[in-house]
Amino acid sequence: MFDEEDVEAKILFGSTEATKEEKTERCSPYDGIVVSIAQACDSDDTVHALKIAKEAAKEAAKTPLSQRILWLEDVAKRLEEEKEVFALMLTKEVAKPIAFSRIEVDRCIETIKLTVLELANLAGETIPTDIMPSGRKTMAYYRREPAGVIACITPFNFPLNLVAHKIAPALGAGNAVVLKPTPEAPMTAYMLAKLFISSEYAVKDALSVVYGDAEVGSTLVKSDIPRVISFTGSVPVGNIIMSQAGIKKVSLELGGNAATYIDESADLELAAARCAFGAFYNSGQVCISLQRIYVNAEVYGEFATLIAMETAKLKVGSPYEDDTFMGPLIDSESKERAKNWIASAKAEGARVIVGGEETVEGLFPPTVMADVTDEMKIICEEVFAPIVSLVSVSNYDTAVKKMNDSPYGLQFSIFTNDLKMTQNFIDDAECGGVVINDIPTLRFDVQPYGGAKLSGVGREGPKWALEEFTEIKSIVIC
Ligand code: SIN
Repeated sequence: MFDEEDVEAKILFGSTEATKEEKTERCSPYDGIVVSIAQACDSDDTVHALKIAKEAAKEAAKTPLSQRILWLEDVAKRLEEEKEVFALMLTKEVAKPIAFSRIEVDRCIETIKLTVLELANLAGETIPTDIMPSGRKTMAYYRREPAGVIACITPFNFPLNLVAHKIAPALGAGNAVVLKPTPEAPMTAYMLAKLFISSEYAVKDALSVVYGDAEVGSTLVKSDIPRVISFTGSVPVGNIIMSQAGIKKVSLELGGNAATYIDESADLELAAARCAFGAFYNSGQVCISLQRIYVNAEVYGEFATLIAMETAKLKVGSPYEDDTFMGPLIDSESKERAKNWIASAKAEGARVIVGGEETVEGLFPPTVMADVTDEMKIICEEVFAPIVSLVSVSNYDTAVKKMNDSPYGLQFSIFTNDLKMTQNFIDDAECGGVVINDIPTLRFDVQPYGGAKLSGVGREGPKWALEEFTEIKSIVIC
């Protein structure tokens, strides 16, 4: 369906493609070459898309579940056939190493298929009203109905799978969607949207796509038409959305400064290899990227040597090469921020063990820092760059206290062979997800995903997204 000449992401007013003169170019973060073009949207375009969605939502709600399931299955099948074209576009637009772009396409297919499985279970239940002394036997039950129009705003770091995590459950549940994908990967999102729209099972006009920044985003958020705003992105933007949304559901999957504890009983070699992966995967541009490693003082020296060795093995370079682990950061501002935060940590007494200096190609390398103290920006704020900090701690209690002493709480992990410690950790960790004996960067798309504190509200994962995108209707037949 797509080939390499297809580079223009067109506005989709439902199934109608707009023709607009005003366009923005997307350049590769790796070599600066123009890789795609997006038609530019303004507030009027966004309102138009919302009105189309409002009409389409009526039809979507009437469409039988069997058809919606066939629709998603068809998209998953056709995405499978176009896997390589999608992976290449993803790499072009956000410079994700091609091996990981392929994995993201596979994850996207899985996300859609998992949504199909969950759709079959989206049922209500009967309520025994006679359980109340004041009650009586009636036929009382509830069911789930589509919420109506869902506005989805998605980020650059997983520009395909995080779109699927929103639009597949939203459409599958019988809603209409207006999608505003990240300006960094308009074509990747457009291609996925086209698979949905061109399906023989599609609900007409149920999916619209608009491109742009804050103007488009706030028009979506402030409008009375969407009943749910589903956003993945930064905490500052999440705050703005919360203040603008008014009375509607808002689901926010925001950032974090994910942490792990390495106990002296842990398998240190395994922990070091996994921590290097979790800190530097996708150049650290993952909401659950491993940023803080608290290491028991007894094994700190050994662990520091092991993670330095593991980090040195990672190939940094062209995202188009099969064996590249890490490409560039998404833009030069992100690289400058990473450099500045390291410089200020060094000025305050931290040390760089590995990395820290830009490579000859101008790439920011995987960087391991030591002697980091709690108040340094590289540890207490979200770095969203390939920088990990090692902190020596005397015991588990100190590690957990430090982990929890953060405004964020997305995912934490622990490496230990002490079962009791594992059980305590599950209780003690103040976050949305804990991982035992692996990195906090681990996410299975079938799981609930979301955070505590500033890391967000609501949960993604097909089962929970379906709940977010539906409303309960309560029924009593007397
Ligand atoms: C995120 O950055 O929040 C998504 C992580 C993932 O899906 O692996």
